[in-house]
Amino acid sequence: MSAGLYIAFEGGEGSGKSTQAKILAKRIDALLTLEPGGTELGAQLRKLLLGVGEAPVGSRAETLMMAADRAQHVEELVEPALQSGRHVVSDRTAYSSLAYQGGARGLGVDAVRSVNEWALAGRWPDVVVLLDCPPGAGPRGRRSSDRLEQEGDEFHQLVHATYLELAAAEPDRFVVLEALGSIAEVSERVWSALADRFGWDDT
Ligand code: TMP
Repeated sequence: MSAGLYIAFEGGEGSGKSTQAKILAKRIDALLTLEPGGTELGAQLRKLLLGVGEAPVGSRAETLMMAADRAQHVEELVEPALQSGRHVVSDRTAYSSLAYQGGARGLGVDAVRSVNEWALAGRWPDVVVLLDCPPGAGPRGRRSSDRLEQEGDEFHQLVHATYLELAAAEPDRFVVLEALGSIAEVSERVWSALADRFGWDDT
């Protein structure tokens, strides 16, 4: 049996990636999951990382806690599903750490990549769907309900710019799609890009 595909959705706040991840996962009967928070440990880390009013978290601790969430996620959920032949659709992956901690927090993409290389034991997503739109312009706007969403415009501009740099550096792994449009329009965009790449039937 061949291993499943590991498909990541990435993008800034309000890009609609959670909705699109859900639609794709249903269509291809994939395991739908998320970072941070896909496991029991991850749910606790998510609360510590994103909860307004939780203890202060510095940039390096933030990077390591995101990586810890991811290490558990890949070992407990992602890898077993892939090995059983099931596709996995993840709402965010290590590329979020490269953009947010590496780019926007200023820790450097290469440093954050090497922490994650170790945490993931080399298990990077097979394909990254980047839903691209200017910060704040996404279909879901920008709520201010968690700690990272509350960061200022400059932070979110840096996230956006770093994602585009990451995509340009790995054109074979990234599919960059316009995030603006109706849910149906964007999901069709996602489907045709992936169906094209993987030779999926139009079901
Ligand atoms: P979301 O999944 O609801 O978009 O929220 C997750 C938040 O955490 C979002 O602001 C991006 C941020 N994040 C990082 O900063 N680094 C990471 O590695 C991950 C997975 C998420």
